[in-house]
Amino acid sequence: MSIDLTEKSAVVTGSGQGLGRAYARALAAAGAGVVVNDVNPDSAQETVDAIVADGGMAVAVVAPVGPTETADQLVATAVEAFGRLDVLVTNAGVLRDRVLWKTSDEDFDLVVQTHLRGTFTTARAAAVHMRERGEGGRIVLVGSPAGQHGNFGQTSYAAAKAGIVAMARTWSLELARAGITVNAVVPTAITAMTATIPVYAEVAAAYDRGEPLPRVVRQEHALGGPQDVAPLVVWLASDASAGVTGQAIGIGGDKLSLYSVPQELGVTFREGGWDADAIAEAWQDTFSSLQQPSGITLPPLDAPA
Ligand SMILES: NC(=O)c1ccc[n+]([C@@H]2O[C@H](COP(=O)([O-])OP(=O)(O)OC[C@H]3O[C@@H](n4cnc5c(N)ncnc54)[C@H](O)[C@@H]3O)[C@@H](O)[C@H]2O)c1
Repeated sequence: MSIDLTEKSAVVTGSGQGLGRAYARALAAAGAGVVVNDVNPDSAQETVDAIVADGGMAVAVVAPVGPTETADQLVATAVEAFGRLDVLVTNAGVLRDRVLWKTSDEDFDLVVQTHLRGTFTTARAAAVHMRERGEGGRIVLVGSPAGQHGNFGQTSYAAAKAGIVAMARTWSLELARAGITVNAVVPTAITAMTATIPVYAEVAAAYDRGEPLPRVVRQEHALGGPQDVAPLVVWLASDASAGVTGQAIGIGGDKLSLYSVPQELGVTFREGGWDADAIAEAWQDTFSSLQQPSGITLPPLDAPA
């Protein structure tokens, strides 16, 4: 691999399994010392063991992201174990999928606490450390297609993931002078999380049996394994991505993509402002043909390969 992260250190939240484990292993394989974080002590230790077996360096912090204490502990552990923190990947996440009218306060709060607050508190702790050290840094956040488009049954998750991309764009402005880049990866991969989505249950089972995935799955659905996503995180963690900041970058299976910032699709002006009748007319004349659908649109999984 041409990317060399030797002498650098990284924190990867939620890296006991799935995408986080793939990020942690790939960063360690590129030479970084990695702080593995998860709420599950066994899986966190398994990731550390896998990294060490590959000849890499890793330590585990078993604690839930969300509270400030965990964020401080993650940065302190990186400093203690590796002398510094260069890269933060805020990957930890949970799903509590329900339609709006069945979403409980507890489920909403857990998803927002883990994704949105967990990203905020860990990034804040990392930014404080990186700014004080004055050598720049890399912060890689994790969005989702659900946050980019909205998705049926994912009120809390779509809200948290959209908020995370908004924070990436905001922090890219605030941290630019310190040489810290902030980008959001928008991943798709077959993991325990995807296997809970009914439409992907069969694909996930086939993947687990080691069967090759059809082209429609790897390309249009952008679904492969976690190892198909990890190279983007390695590149964003490296000096090679200097100058790339505030971006939302999609990756999964065979697909790599760049998301736009939401744009105004049409603009019209009315001297003195608008009344409801004028808006109704402008809607008909200017905007109705520009309306965009909500939701993720994908071809059926039984389409020809
Ligand atoms: N798999 C996909 O297709 C996909 C798509 C879009 C976004 N994502 C995002 O990628 C990230 C990883 O997803 P995955 O598919 O690997 O899921 P996963 O469920 O396999 O792994 C998530 C990990 O986070 C850990 N975790 C949960 N709550 C935590 C907390 N409070 N603190 C620390 N760790 C915690 C879990 O124990 C688990 O190890 C998530 O943010 C997810 O929303 C995944």
